Amino acid sequence: MFTSSTRSIPEQGSVPRHLAVIMDGNGRWAKKRFLPRVAGHQQGVETVRRTVKACIERGIDYLTLFAFSSENWRRPTEEVSFLMNLFISALEREVGRLHANGVRLRVVGDLSAFEPRLIDLVRRGENLTASNGKLTLTIAANYGGRWDLMQAFNGLALAYPEKVGNYAEADLEPFLAMSYAPEPDLFIRTGGEQRISNFLLWQLAYCELFFTDAFWPDFDEAMLDNAIASFRKRERRFGRTSEQLLAVPPSPTLTAVPGDA
Ligand code: IPE
Ligand code: IPE
Ligand code: MG
Repeated sequence: MFTSSTRSIPEQGSVPRHLAVIMDGNGRWAKKRFLPRVAGHQQGVETVRRTVKACIERGIDYLTLFAFSSENWRRPTEEVSFLMNLFISALEREVGRLHANGVRLRVVGDLSAFEPRLIDLVRRGENLTASNGKLTLTIAANYGGRWDLMQAFNGLALAYPEKVGNYAEADLEPFLAMSYAPEPDLFIRTGGEQRISNFLLWQLAYCELFFTDAFWPDFDEAMLDNAIASFRKRERRFGRTSEQLLAVPPSPTLTAVPGDA
């Protein structure tokens, strides 16, 4: 199990260990070029490829990309079906390359809504890459933070009915869709909106947030480095004071939170 940011202070490095991204602005990127919205999604896949490479080069261990939210079903049917086909073709084309580059692929979200062919590609891609250790790439597809919390609560209640009313945070965490990963340290949202849009609600508790106006298809290495540079300048206090952070080494009595494991 990884350190929970609300129960102990996570270790910190100069590069985020886990980067979570809301890839937004594809439609507006296309509109600006008088192209159909879906051309932006297509171009967005290129940015995913570049970003995976850039994250490996920078020593980031976990990259999580929000590809399709539980609310994105509200979009026009044609756009939804284009996105599904794009996901299928991206998996068909990219899984071999990801594997060759040592990337472990995971997909989180309610996959039951997807067509069997897509589910099969996801499972095969996950199995093929399961023991890779260079980077864990998670694609959040038909994912919603509330969906995740509800499926975790239900899983926990079914597994330990005798403890209802007495569950602790640590009991819930193994049931969350991303229990295999530490909490994100850095969150980036492209496309100019400053909101979470039902992404990782539980796991973003103490994440550093970075927003950029750049549309996802335009997001490049320099912008990633800019976000990492901003992350490096943040003082991550996790509830403590600045003065406490300056005390080296931090005394365990200062960092303890009631209920710390
Ligand atoms: C993000 O880009 C991709 C998905 C949500 C699938 P958008 O399609 O939301 O692009 P904008 O926000 O309309 O520009
Ligand atoms: C968030 O983008 C979801 C993904 C990037 C997959 P949206 O474009 O759907 O978010 P809202 O609707 O503007 O909040
Ligand atoms: Mg959008």
